[in-house]
Amino acid sequence: MEKIIIEGGIPLRGEVSISGSKNAALPIIASSIMFDDSNNELYNVPNLQDIVTIKKLLISLNAEVKDSDDGKLFINTSTINNFDAPYDLVKTMRASVLVLGPLLAKYKRARVSLPGGCAIGARPIDFHLQALRALGASITMEHGYVEATAGKLKGAEIIFPIPSVTGTENIIMAATLAEGTTIIKNAAREPEIDDLILALCNGGANIKRVMPSVIVIKGVKKLNKLSHYIVSDRIEAGTYMVASAITQGDIIVKNVDLNHISSITDKLTEAGVKINVISPSSIRVKGPKIIKSVDISTAPFPYFPTDMQAQMMALMSIANGLCVITENIFENRFMHVAELRRLGADIKVCGNFAIVKGTGALLGTDVMATDLRASASLVLAGLASSKDYTSISRIYHLDRGYEAMEKKLSGLGAIISRVDDSNKTDYNDNEDYLTSQSMQSIASGIK
Ligand code: UD1
Repeated sequence: MEKIIIEGGIPLRGEVSISGSKNAALPIIASSIMFDDSNNELYNVPNLQDIVTIKKLLISLNAEVKDSDDGKLFINTSTINNFDAPYDLVKTMRASVLVLGPLLAKYKRARVSLPGGCAIGARPIDFHLQALRALGASITMEHGYVEATAGKLKGAEIIFPIPSVTGTENIIMAATLAEGTTIIKNAAREPEIDDLILALCNGGANIKRVMPSVIVIKGVKKLNKLSHYIVSDRIEAGTYMVASAITQGDIIVKNVDLNHISSITDKLTEAGVKINVISPSSIRVKGPKIIKSVDISTAPFPYFPTDMQAQMMALMSIANGLCVITENIFENRFMHVAELRRLGADIKVCGNFAIVKGTGALLGTDVMATDLRASASLVLAGLASSKDYTSISRIYHLDRGYEAMEKKLSGLGAIISRVDDSNKTDYNDNEDYLTSQSMQSIASGIK
């Protein structure tokens, strides 16, 4: 089992380059199912476990997928002759449900496993299914699978009860090859959706965001070639901005889209972090000696993203003062609280509120990642923990969504390394925590 070990307390310095967005790449890769060309090309695809999963999913449908080290991905979906997204893949990544819309649009059939529960909440897909039914799909549930067929998909007016990111994406894709016009109201406004729209339109689709929350899709007969450069990852950018803030660092974050990170920039500025734009796609982020506590409330784009809540909580743990963090998107997204407390954070949870009393400093110890963004918050807390090592287990969560995080942080001067201690015998049977003795020996190996 791999772990990350961090010696904290070192101010970060230097430059870090942000990778392509995971949440943009996933729907765009899924959309390749709808394109006729046998050589679809994607660029700036991040090297992440979730991308491996979606590639495996396409391969399981009998698509041909070829990638190169430099973020290029070639996909031929003309060979698809299987329409099943199996449980084994969907359970490891809920976004696998993004193949439902494209399969239905192109092949008029799909069988996709229901994702089931998830660490951060129930995360149903009822909005996706209701909207697909409105487009004319017939959908049943059999043995934990969504079985969807459609003689013909026809445009319809869809009103989402609340904005859903992957729901909006699934319906955009299904409507792209449908007959007539689809109007999605209360559509999600996340920039990853606009990247998908751009990729589809460049291949022949007719889709417009006519108002911030209204998307109009005029169905077309076919899509030609998918050729697209994936937008940069605003959540990865925000995570490195916090990394600088939490270590009193001074770093340059490159390859960011400034329009996508303003809610994060605003909060960090309010907390006393100095942020200067130094080019259209790079910013300098300088952490102050003392971070001010600021209240945070998550909401759909353009407001503060739930995917940055855990990282900001790590920052608020060392701030001066008291703040309230409100999680409005997912019902169980405070799993990182117990682990941050192990590092010395003073956090109380009451329903969807977390009251964080800044302690000024954290102290390294063994912690365990529980989900993707929770693991990022532990890495950040580890960077801030003084005079000791933080050992983070279950880092496979981190690998789902952060490309080469240790390498990027090492490049900024952090003392961080990944160790594989699967041969160690001193585990507790039920936990993969290291004993303090083995942690010391691993820690001494990275000095
Ligand atoms: C996407 C992102 C995820 C991010 C989330 C919120 C991807 C691959 N993942 O997830 O990183 O945290 O947006 O910004 O892009 N809901 C329903 N029924 C549905 C669909 C959603 O009740 O059919 C609820 C959810 O439980 C949640 C809210 O709607 O409370 C928003 O979820 P949604 O935007 O759909 O999240 P995802 O698309 O799964």
